[in-house]
Parts: sequence; C-alpha cells; structure tokens
Amino acid sequence: MTDDAFSSLEIRDTTVRNRFAMSPMCQYSVDARDGLATDWHRVHLGSRAVGGAGIVLTEATAVEERGRITPEDLGVWSDDHRDVLAPIAEFVASQGATPGIQLAHAGRKASKTRPWEGSEPLQPVDGGWETVAPSAVPYPYDDESPVTTRLDGDGIADVVDSFRAGARRAREAGFEIAEVHAAHGYLLHEFLSPVTNRREDEYGGSFENRTRILREVTEAVRDEMGDERPVFVRISATDWLDDRRSWDVEQSVRLADDLSDAGADLIDVSSGGIHPDQAIEWVGPNYQLRFAERIRNECETDVKIGTVGGIRAAEQADAIIRNDRADLAIVGRRFLSDPYFPLHAAVELGREDAVDVPVQYQRGFE
Ligand code: FNR
Repeated sequence: MTDDAFSSLEIRDTTVRNRFAMSPMCQYSVDARDGLATDWHRVHLGSRAVGGAGIVLTEATAVEERGRITPEDLGVWSDDHRDVLAPIAEFVASQGATPGIQLAHAGRKASKTRPWEGSEPLQPVDGGWETVAPSAVPYPYDDESPVTTRLDGDGIADVVDSFRAGARRAREAGFEIAEVHAAHGYLLHEFLSPVTNRREDEYGGSFENRTRILREVTEAVRDEMGDERPVFVRISATDWLDDRRSWDVEQSVRLADDLSDAGADLIDVSSGGIHPDQAIEWVGPNYQLRFAERIRNECETDVKIGTVGGIRAAEQADAIIRNDRADLAIVGRRFLSDPYFPLHAAVELGREDAVDVPVQYQRGFE
C-alpha cells in the first residue's frame, strides 16, 4: 500500500505517528540569556504536539554557550538545561508526538542580535563573544564581525565532547530523536565547506578530512542515544556558490552514505547559509526537494530522507509522501502560522480517521 502523509514511520524502536515534522525554528525567547527554556518554549512546542505533528523538533539548541546564534537561544550545555527541557519533552510525548531536539553550534555565525533587532554582529561590549570556526575567517557581515578563532585539535575534541554531552542530556530529558545541525553555515557546515575550511590538518583539505568532525559528532550522538533512538542530521545540500570551490550535491550524496555508516537514520536536506554571496535560484514550494530526492536516489545506504522548504499545503505534503519523493515532510513557517496544521490537513484531505484530535478540542473539529 502506498504511504501517505498520515502513515506512521518506523525508525529503530520509535514509531512516528505521521509524516509531518515541525522543523527546528529559533524562537530567540530565552529570558535571562542563560539558555534555559521558558514558558514560551513549553507552549510553542506543546501546541504543535497538540496540533498533530508526528515529530516536534526544538529550535537549534546550543551544546556550548559560545555556540548560540543569539544570547536568547536555547541551550543544553548543563544538566540544569536538561532539567528544564524534560517536562517539555514529556508533554510533547504525552500528546502522541515524538519529541526531538536539534543539537547545534553556531560557529562563526554565533554572537548576533535577534532578527527583529537586525541580526547584527553582537560585539563583546554589548554582551557578544568571540566565535570559533575551522579557520580564523569571520563571516563577512556588512558591519564589523566578532573575532573568530581557529579551533585547534583540542578545541575540536571539545566540540565533539559537547555534542556527546548534549545528546546524553537530551536522552535523559526524554527526547526520542536527536538531530545534529550541520547546515546553514554553522560550525559543522563550516568544516564541510571549502569556502570556510582552509585547514591543512586532518580536519581540512580532502573530502574525508572536511567531513571528519561531522562523522565523529554523529558517532558520539549515536553512542549516547543508544540503539533504540533515531539520530537525524540536517545538512545544506549545496552552498549555492557554483562560481567557487564549495559544498555541492555530489558531496552531499557521498556524505549521506558516510553519515549512515556513522549511525544516522535520516538526513534532513536543507541548503545554503555559508556565505552572503550565495545565489539561490528560486525559493518556493518544495524548492529543496530536488536535492533530497537526488540524495535519496543516489545513496547506496537505506538512510531515510527528510525534505524541508516551502511545504505549505496539505495536498503538497501528502503528494511528497505518496509519490515516494521523501520519507518525512519537514515544515517550518506553516507551523508558525498554524500550530494545528496536521489536524487541519486531515480535515482538508478527508482523513479525520487518521488523527487524534485532543478530546478537549473535539467540538472545534466537528
Ligand atoms: C528557521 N530555520 C532554522 N533551521 C534550523 O535548522 N534550525 C533553526 O533553529 C532554525 N531557526 C529558524 C527560525 C525561523 C523563525 C525560521 C522561519 C526558520 C529554518 C527552518 O527550519 C526551515 O528549514 C526553513 O524555514 C524552510 O522551511 P519552511 O519555512 O519553508 O517550511
């Protein structure tokens, strides 16, 4: 039988109830610049679980304090962070959704103001900090960039350990899925791309060297999550910089197989973010699906593939799954405007049988 958007998805010991995942989306809503989740996160993530999502992924959650994009980002760099996240994961699971966390490090794109404050580089005098990257090349902002320091060998080992500790805390907090953020020009993507990685040691140069840290992080996260729980990795399939030596889809196909061997179950296929010169051809419905599909078709392993980008309509998400173009429809902005997107999609597609409307809300869906 053909799968559709309401078919469950089995990954390891986890059964995801349908194919709608809420994409990680920063909320920039930590009150005290301490990385601790607030009522906002509880309501934001909890509502999408109530709204029928199969998977609810947290925003980019920093494994190190210096790995936050803004001072208001969520973190998981201490056991206190874990303890505040635990009741949120518990509530999400109680609503039938699978709670997932995106483990992140912003690298040279850390230390910025929030989007509604201009996403400007945040200087140390204003509460910003020195960033770290594979090479000491700051992100080319229009304004002065915070200082970027090259990670040495010990620094790289510390980053891998931070992802490991983040995954341990995520598991202890009750998250069933850990997604490694290796996209959008943040630290792990900065190692992958020759645009940002100018190293000449075993973490730079060849494909194998540039991908080494991500394989090490994936192995560490897999190790901590255990054999039962799924591990996802989000990648940028292309840098959209064909005019120079950069990261592209061919490398992404090869990487997907390597990550599968390192313990990843699903590759979440996004794109871009490494450099402001990126030339994105077109942004619209399914604009990144062709990359997901290509990776899925050309991969030698049976790693699952999620697609994200411009999924806004019920029929569109359903068609992606029915036509077997990806395993998971990962939805960002539509979930911001409609926390109940999957429930509304079920009504629209005549599939009320496939969702559980919470008893408290049933009269609203009669
Ligand atoms: C994002 N995106 C994003 N991606 C990610 O991997 N980690 C994150 O924390 C964020 N944060 C974030 C915040 C906000 C407000 C938006 C709108 C987006 C990207 C997001 O997950 C998704 O990939 C894109 O929005 C494209 O999908 P949609 O919105 O077209 O469905």
